Amino acid sequence: MSLSIIPQPVSVEERDGTYALHSGQSITARGAASAALPAVQGLLADAGIVLETADDGGALVLEENAALPDEGYQLSIDEDGLRLAAASAAGFFYGAQTLRQLLPVDGAGTAQLPCAQIEDAPRFAWRGMHLDVCRHFFPVDFVKRYLDWMAQHKYNVFHWHLTEDQGWRLAVDKYPKLQEVSAWRTGEDGSQYGGFYTPSDVREVVEYARQRHIRVVPEIELPGHAQAALAAYPEYACTDGPFEVVTEWGVFDEVFCAGNDATFRFLEDVFEEVLALFPDDYVHIGGDECPKTRWKACPRCQQRMRDEGLESEEELQSYFVRHFAAWLAARGKKPIGWDEILEGGLAKEAAVMSWRGEQGGFVAASAGHDVVMAPETHVYFDRRHYDREDERGRLSVNTLENVYSYEPIPAELDADRAHHILGVEGTMWTEGTPQPEDIAYMLFPRVVALAEVAWSPQEARDWNSFRERLRAHGARLTAAGIGYYPDAGVWG
Ligand code: ACM
Ligand code: ZN
Repeated sequence: MSLSIIPQPVSVEERDGTYALHSGQSITARGAASAALPAVQGLLADAGIVLETADDGGALVLEENAALPDEGYQLSIDEDGLRLAAASAAGFFYGAQTLRQLLPVDGAGTAQLPCAQIEDAPRFAWRGMHLDVCRHFFPVDFVKRYLDWMAQHKYNVFHWHLTEDQGWRLAVDKYPKLQEVSAWRTGEDGSQYGGFYTPSDVREVVEYARQRHIRVVPEIELPGHAQAALAAYPEYACTDGPFEVVTEWGVFDEVFCAGNDATFRFLEDVFEEVLALFPDDYVHIGGDECPKTRWKACPRCQQRMRDEGLESEEELQSYFVRHFAAWLAARGKKPIGWDEILEGGLAKEAAVMSWRGEQGGFVAASAGHDVVMAPETHVYFDRRHYDREDERGRLSVNTLENVYSYEPIPAELDADRAHHILGVEGTMWTEGTPQPEDIAYMLFPRVVALAEVAWSPQEARDWNSFRERLRAHGARLTAAGIGYYPDAGVWG
């Protein structure tokens, strides 16, 4: 195969002949396609091909085709030029990303392209990547690079994990101590580590993502993983505190008090500001790993259980989560949470992110909830690439081939429930990755394999073909300055 595209398109048909594309030629857009022209032109210019806008004809013609799927495109390369058709700006964007992969990596301004017809559209609507900015903090510039990496691989959902025991990263006007106290932890030597995003940082990231057809889903964790917030506002805990922003990794007992109405008001205030900043339909409310130790001993939590007829602390967690799921739904938002939110009953409007394997996703989709699959067995990129002593990474091993083998629709799911699987998302937890280059090392090339799982038709997935194409892709990553896991067996 001479056309080496990742993720693999729906169909690629190579033909006889070639076309020489080079800087100085022209680009035209017909009708509604004009809105997409600057983005396409910009992507090609970044790759060294600078095309001039013309009124008619030209080497690359963009044309609207409303019959194509929403994010899909058609790219035709003939001996007399290129034609890119799509129904939406996203389709043109993805078509241009594909065209970029056909250009030489040297950025020299000229490309000899084989004639071909490419038809393409994504398999899943939710092609997500998560980033934990709490265990380690990453500035806006890095977040933008992360979004570029996603866009190059046709990902379209950025899940921004903003709150944790070890740091709260979102400035909230009404609660200034979140940025003054919760955003900072004190090391053994007394040094301060942390950081936070201002509303203007958030707007910048959301806009940068929007230009790349990436939605931003913010995550505010409740009721657990809350100790950084409680360090600033201990009145929302079950006991008096004081608490510190946590400096170790793990799961901690200090969680939001489920018996205190003021805790609910605090979180609602936070969500009010979240809704003002994040336009996406979805808001992630966490829900994972919430120990019940404090609730069992807390008179207010126990009183709440009696008042609401809740039989167990698991039901109290469900009460807490259902409150916020309903609160968000009443404001036109779609709540999503980790699969623990299924325990004790789930609000019907909530979607589930299945991380403890596939079971939560299977149960939720069977019950009619929308689901994003993110099982730690296959899509956790903080895990080691290989089972080698000197290999970086945490907890377990997740090889490239294991990522590539992942099938997001659980085999046992009834076919008429399969549409509830919105897609798939990879996670990047950052306990072990303080620096951007550490993240690149953990993500690449596994994040490339997951892109193909998320985008390409199931029948187009082929491990040997992927390895072959990954070799060509490695040169693109290198040219883009991305350091990746150096597996000689894969890169050849
Ligand atoms: C998770 O990995 N605790 C969602
Ligand atoms: Zn309590």
